[in-house]
Amino acid sequence: MQDLTTHVGNLAVPMDASALEQAALAAAFAASTEEEIERVRVEYLGRKSELKLALREVRDRETGMALNALRERLESAIDGREGELQRAELDRRLREERVDVTMPGTRVLRGHYHLITQIRREFEDVFLGLGYSVIDGLEVETTHYNFDALNLPLGHPARSPLQTLFLDEETVLRTETSPAQIRTMEQQEPPVYVVCPGRVYRRDTPDATHTPTFHQVEGLAVDEGITLADLLGTLDHLIKALFGENRRSRFVTHHFPFTEPSVEALVSCHVCDGSGCPVCRHSGWIEVGGSGMVDPKLFEFVGYDPERYTGFAFGWGLERIAVLRHGIPDLRELWRNDPRLLEQF
Ligand code: DAH
Repeated sequence: MQDLTTHVGNLAVPMDASALEQAALAAAFAASTEEEIERVRVEYLGRKSELKLALREVRDRETGMALNALRERLESAIDGREGELQRAELDRRLREERVDVTMPGTRVLRGHYHLITQIRREFEDVFLGLGYSVIDGLEVETTHYNFDALNLPLGHPARSPLQTLFLDEETVLRTETSPAQIRTMEQQEPPVYVVCPGRVYRRDTPDATHTPTFHQVEGLAVDEGITLADLLGTLDHLIKALFGENRRSRFVTHHFPFTEPSVEALVSCHVCDGSGCPVCRHSGWIEVGGSGMVDPKLFEFVGYDPERYTGFAFGWGLERIAVLRHGIPDLRELWRNDPRLLEQF
């Protein structure tokens, strides 16, 4: 083949076209991977390759045709080699990566809701079914909502920093979900039918019956003509939904600063069914949670007319329900999250 001359700048550089072709073909043939053939392509056909530089400098038709013919030969040789390498790679993968679709698969472990979450959702479902709304309260509360507006005056033991976690003088981690009652009543006029589930915090040292964080669900109903009978009927319905149709409810007087009268709900003992045993301390009944008729003072705080409206409220602990329903001997187990415990529920 004739020698061609390439001009780089003003210099005329001779290019040995047949030596170039032989070198390129040898390199293409020697390439054994797709990366290598790509490198050969860049070296011999890339923008800075000797051939491309020569093509840019072409002055006469004959040289141009010769160089283009060379370019086409190199392209087809490199394309051909690339095709071979791709097929070889595909063959290798088909051979080596064969999937045996009859092999048993890897089992994907499915989780489920934590027991407390399950109970919370059951609780919510009961009240959604009764036409209540589910609302969120605030976990960080002011002393005004956590205490003052709930009729816990300064000096009440619950306001001690030994019992309550203070963030500053006027800010606490809520000790109960009850502040949500006040916030709800400030925001809407009766009728009010809400439940507010959430975490609450108390400065307790963890032991079998205490954890410094736990969960409550607050309930509040305010309307014209609400009576204690509505409270008792609603909580009886709740007890049967959570514990089973054959459990009985009972109510005894109690004291809470924000209800008058105040009522503690009891459920018949799951072990002895009411006849008395060590679990229920021989009473046949176990306490499940506090409640009462909303003290008219609270209505005055939020601007409801206490002559026109009455209401009831309750605040039940979810861990307590879990313990009673499933006989969990130590509350702390619910926070350890050992799958051996959790998967039982
Ligand atoms: N907040 C009370 C507690 O944490 C529970 C409670 C009792 C809530 C009576 C209420 C209620 O709404 O009416 O012990």
